[in-house]
Amino acid sequence: MDYVSPATLTASTKPTGSLTLKGIRKQFQFKDRELKVLSGFDLNINPGEFVSIVGPSGCGKSTLLRLIAGLDDSYEGVITLDGQRVAGTSLERGLVFQDHRLFPWMTLEQNVALALTNRPLSKAAKAKLVAEHIALVGLKGFEKAWPHQLSGGMAQRAAIARALVNEPKVLLLDEPFGALDALTRVHLQTELQRIWLSSGATMIMITHDVEEAIYLGDRVVVMQANPGRIVHTVDVGLSHPRDRASPVLHRLKDEILAELTNPPVEASSVVPLRKDQDQ
Ligand SMILES: Nc1ncnc2c1ncn2[C@@H]1O[C@H](COP(=O)(O)OP(=O)(O)OP(=O)(O)O)[C@@H](O)[C@H]1O
Ligand SMILES: [Mg+2]
Repeated sequence: MDYVSPATLTASTKPTGSLTLKGIRKQFQFKDRELKVLSGFDLNINPGEFVSIVGPSGCGKSTLLRLIAGLDDSYEGVITLDGQRVAGTSLERGLVFQDHRLFPWMTLEQNVALALTNRPLSKAAKAKLVAEHIALVGLKGFEKAWPHQLSGGMAQRAAIARALVNEPKVLLLDEPFGALDALTRVHLQTELQRIWLSSGATMIMITHDVEEAIYLGDRVVVMQANPGRIVHTVDVGLSHPRDRASPVLHRLKDEILAELTNPPVEASSVVPLRKDQDQ
């Protein structure tokens, strides 16, 4: 009998991939002081939703993703996936980074198959999943290629295939196209939209590219730094697949860029002028 993944089984009954972040606070010890990185971060993400996160460098985006991935559990607050508290890493939560992190001594196919090592599946079932996911990211025909024989965009697609082969409920992407040229980026954004629509996974993507955030996201979370927090959540409100030329996308891009480049001045950061200073 063909293997049917738990994700596929539950998908027909109840949507999965509902993520809740409540009161997340995170600080690091930096030299002799505490560095407040995330402060009171609350976010509810619906099953199958695509959420983009933008914000200035150092505002805690990667830190947040690491908490959701379960790579760091020293924080305050609660993160749940489908009502279950997140504890440690799990195949339910896949990760894709800016650099593909493929092993150079393994072929593309072997790199993707490696992610299935701990799954109790037959050899044939694993081979089928690997083939399906290589096809999903448009790399059919390159199964036996070595990572050095792939372009940057192809290697990044391979990393997405490796993250999706376990059919995670949530895919976490940290600047997945940040190292690619502008044209390849645009192409892979369209590809990611297609992959997301066919996988049904919940996706959270960090990016510095506001246009990318709006083109892909159902919602765009805008963060500010010191401490990292949500200042605005933008509902894009357009169905997928999207038209890049849509005036709505352009208007939202201008609004978010203005917000990021001219953050509101906070009372606590205003230093009063001394009387003897020039006004
Ligand atoms: N392991 C660590 N120890 C101490 N401080 C850390 C550690 N990891 C991150 N930080 C600090 O936490 C803050 C947030 O870092 P983070 O990597 O989450 O930022 P980011 O928003 O992803 O930035 P970028 O957009 O540049 O990737 C930074 O001030 C960073 O110096
Ligand atoms: Mg980062």
